[in-house]
Amino acid sequence: MDGRIEVIEGDITKLQVDAIVNAANSSLLGGGGVDGAIHRAAGPGLLEECRTLGGCQTGDAKLTRGYNLPAKYVIHTVGPVWCGGTRGEEKLLESCYRRSLEIAGANDCRTVAFPAISTGVYGYPMDLAADVAVRTVKSFLKDHDKPRKVYLVCFGQQAFSEFQRALASAV
Ligand code: APR
Repeated sequence: MDGRIEVIEGDITKLQVDAIVNAANSSLLGGGGVDGAIHRAAGPGLLEECRTLGGCQTGDAKLTRGYNLPAKYVIHTVGPVWCGGTRGEEKLLESCYRRSLEIAGANDCRTVAFPAISTGVYGYPMDLAADVAVRTVKSFLKDHDKPRKVYLVCFGQQAFSEFQRALASAV
C-alpha cells in the first residue's frame, strides 16, 4: 500500500502513464480547464471517439484511447458541481474516483493519474476534495492489485499543499 499513492505538482497532459483521468462534463464533448488541455494535447481523434460514447452521468466514467498524449488511455469522469455540500456531492465525487479506478483496473492499467476533479469550474472546495480523493483511492487500492500506482496531480501550490496534507493525515 505504502508508495502506491503519490501527490505531484504539474500538468497532467505531460505524464507518461497508462491512463490519465479527465474532469469532463456530461456531454464528454470538451470544455475548459483540464478538459480543454487534454483535448488540445490529444488532438481531434479524442473528440471523435468521445462523440460515439453518448455522454456520461455525474459520478460515472468512460474510457477512450489517448491519441497524441503520452498516456495510452483517457478515462473521462464527470464530477459533481459543488452546491454547498447538500446535494450528495461527496458521494458523487467518491464515485468518480472509484469508477475511474475500476475501469483502469479492467483495462490493465498499472499507472493512473488524476487531476483534482471538480475543484476548478465546478467549485468543490480543495481541502474537502483532497480528503475525498485520498480516502477513496486508498480504500480502493487496499482491495485491488491494479492499478499499482496512482498519481494525484495538482495544478498549483494550493492544490499541492492540500493534497499533501490529506495524504499525510489519512488513516
Ligand atoms: N493538469 C492538471 N490539473 C489541471 C490542469 C492540467 N493541465 N488544468 C487544470 N487543472 C486543475 C484545476 O486547477 C483544478 O484544480 O484541474 C482541476 C479541475 O478543474 P476543472 O478543469 O475546472 O474541472 P472541474 O472543476 O471538474 O469542472 C469541470 O470544466 O472544463 C470544464 O468540461 C469541463 O464542464 C466541465 C468542468
